[in-house]
Amino acid sequence: MNGPNLNLIGTRSPEIYGSTSLEELNASCRSWAADVGATIETYQSNHEGDLIDKLHSSRDADGVVINPGAFTHYSYAIRDAIEAIGIPTVEIHISNVRDREPWRRISVVSDVCVATVFGRGIIGYRDAIRHLVARAAWPVETIRYGPDPDNVGDLRLPRGPGPHPVAVLLHGGFWRDTAARDLLDSAAVDLTRRGWATWNVEFARIGGGGGWRATTKDVAAAIGSLADFAEGHDLDIDRVVAVGHGSGGHLALQAATRTGEIPISAVAALAPIGDLEAAHRAGIGSDAVDAFVLRTPEQSPERYAAASPIRNLPIGVPLLVVHGDEDDRVPAAISRSFAGRAADEGDTVIYHELEGVGHDELIDPATHAWAQVVEEIDRLR
Ligand code: DQA
Repeated sequence: MNGPNLNLIGTRSPEIYGSTSLEELNASCRSWAADVGATIETYQSNHEGDLIDKLHSSRDADGVVINPGAFTHYSYAIRDAIEAIGIPTVEIHISNVRDREPWRRISVVSDVCVATVFGRGIIGYRDAIRHLVARAAWPVETIRYGPDPDNVGDLRLPRGPGPHPVAVLLHGGFWRDTAARDLLDSAAVDLTRRGWATWNVEFARIGGGGGWRATTKDVAAAIGSLADFAEGHDLDIDRVVAVGHGSGGHLALQAATRTGEIPISAVAALAPIGDLEAAHRAGIGSDAVDAFVLRTPEQSPERYAAASPIRNLPIGVPLLVVHGDEDDRVPAAISRSFAGRAADEGDTVIYHELEGVGHDELIDPATHAWAQVVEEIDRLR
């Protein structure tokens, strides 16, 4: 469902909303849905009451993806309609509403939605549809681990008796807040099917209070919180594997170097940013490293020494590092030298460089690459 003025995308502020028309967007949504075995209906209106009526008549759907347009920022009537129908609803915005006028940061619908996707362009609609399909595929319990809005995680439990090994999932996206844990939904579902309890966590990111200190602190708290609910959910806290992708791979490696209440027993680092200085030199993610560390290496070598996994070797637990040789977001060369150095420093490392594989295939259960990744992750349990 799209709200006011979204009938004009394609020509409306293309520098913000892109050049795709509503008709093209709807066609893409139908095909993204078909890809994951779902069927959808599309709807657009410029009128608040019509959107509310449409929500009411959507009660039988398994989920709703809604871009309420400017109504997002003040329509309590749409908020109440979402709450009233009580079906999983994802809030979506094409633009980065947190990086525009301050009033766009306010959403009165977020608290009744299961997820908010923003700032990813129209591909965010695909992610929103996938999120709903993943939610329907396996029961999920969202648990709060701290006081901040981003201190939440999704716990999925495998069938059968425990104690279950735990995979802590740390999503990528260059530590930025336009990326969120929904990126690892389908990986989480597949790992859960295979017998892992999965704890797919959110944490503060750049744009939402994150940065190396705040983000690392959240990740540590998310892992530590397993102690609070391990017993009730029959989790095996002696087998906790951190699985991270891209910048999440960085967070997983860093988390393993700390000895918290819940120690990490192994790391699966998928296309990880294992060397912040090399990543800074490569300028990856539009200078994401500088934004994350809040300094350049020249300004603060100490900070890079503290925050970069390759500077904290040995990590001290078994490492699985997988990288696609066609990754155009994080160069495979970073992992090649990281894995070599880690082994030199005494870590047990398995390194696979997958031929013809890019960045996202490593977390997509529909790919060949994932089949290899997950087989290796299973060996870490
Ligand atoms: C929007 C953001 C809103 O602030 C704006 O009023 C819109 C579109 C988006 O998709 O980015 O109409 O929801």
